[in-house]
Amino acid sequence: MRNNAIVLFVVSSVSYPKYRFKLNSYSTQFPVFEEYPELAYLDNAATTQRPKAVIDAINKFYISENANIHRGIYDLSNQATTKYEAARQAVADFIGASSASNIGFTKGTTESVNVVAQSFLSKRLNQGDNIVVSILEHHANFIPWQMLAKEKGAELRVIPIDEHGDLNMPAYKELVDQNTKMVAVNHISNTLGTINDIAEIIAVAHTKDAPVMIDAAQSVSMYPLDAQYLKYDFLAFSGHKMYGPFGIGVLYVADQHLSEIGPYNYGGGMIKEVTIEETTFVKFPKNLEAGTSNVAGVIGLHAAVEYINQLDRAQIQSELSELSQYTEELLQSIPGVKVVRLPKHHSGIFSIEVEDIHPHDVASFLNKDGIAVRAGMHCTQPLLTDIGVPATVRISLAHYNDKSQIDRLKASLIELIDFWS
Ligand SMILES: Cc1ncc(COP(=O)(O)O)c(C=O)c1O
Repeated sequence: MRNNAIVLFVVSSVSYPKYRFKLNSYSTQFPVFEEYPELAYLDNAATTQRPKAVIDAINKFYISENANIHRGIYDLSNQATTKYEAARQAVADFIGASSASNIGFTKGTTESVNVVAQSFLSKRLNQGDNIVVSILEHHANFIPWQMLAKEKGAELRVIPIDEHGDLNMPAYKELVDQNTKMVAVNHISNTLGTINDIAEIIAVAHTKDAPVMIDAAQSVSMYPLDAQYLKYDFLAFSGHKMYGPFGIGVLYVADQHLSEIGPYNYGGGMIKEVTIEETTFVKFPKNLEAGTSNVAGVIGLHAAVEYINQLDRAQIQSELSELSQYTEELLQSIPGVKVVRLPKHHSGIFSIEVEDIHPHDVASFLNKDGIAVRAGMHCTQPLLTDIGVPATVRISLAHYNDKSQIDRLKASLIELIDFWS
């Protein structure tokens, strides 16, 4: 593969070819597909689209509910505070947390991981200790641990994958020991779509008293993540990957660690007392939410949780798995297209290479046919280095995608390969 892309098409404004496709029943709830019925949006691992219910909730907040929280003594502010805290309870219920006080709001998964690294693990980690991550991690769940390990003279241990792209579980069991101070893994890989057996990963770590942080960025939209059943210590996810707004995320902290999460940022809204000499702080989650919160983001996140709650997730999972199977078969039937790894436990995310064509050229060619995919390293450079691939084209599915869009993907890839040869 060439190192540089030849940029095939430069687009200055959004204008998709005017196919007239019937929207599937889920996609009619998403205004973007009314706007662009011809858009085959296959970049859901980067961010999902937003249903009308989420957009309406944010609009409503700014039109008739807007006020700052936790500090007003007038109706509008009290109402905003009540709604903000109701969202915290809804998120707690969504993941089966025992209380709303286990839920802190952050900017997203990235910040949630950094909070745990900086305000929890940094106090516990010493020279000679180790942190276990996997080679599948997004940089957001890799670099914070790598940096902390370096700072403390600890070791970063990396769980390898097998030839399919599944985690090598026997190797994992060898890596965890009594000096492991954190196991941090994703539930679903954003590059290969591997679904990790987090129940087993957590159980193994707990036999060595190691806490576990689960990065649920790619799974929270469709997979149950019950805190009582799975018993993870920390869970991170982002609103924008579960049909909610940008700029809002969640950090769940299990009861036994609540008192150990220290402040992350300093400022208003998280103090008990401030004197010239000293400041004392309130406990998690308030100590995490210094400064003015993303109130509209939290309201939108609540609407996203309600949107997911009213879906039949078992039904959607089965439809998605059928669509995923269909995608896999079509991709494998195109000469010149290679799916770089096909894990045995797989969700609807595929990384492909097209022979002799740079991933950016593939993505820009697909774009002219109204197909949105991602090209690059997907913030998983250690993984791509490990599997010896410089970059891929990533196709990632959601419940509002359908087979006709995958057929168009295939037709467009075949046209590209013909055009190139
Ligand atoms: C698995 C995974 N973890 C973490 C992140 C980072 O999420 P955010 O950018 O919303 O903080 C992503 C984003 O793509 C992801 O896919």
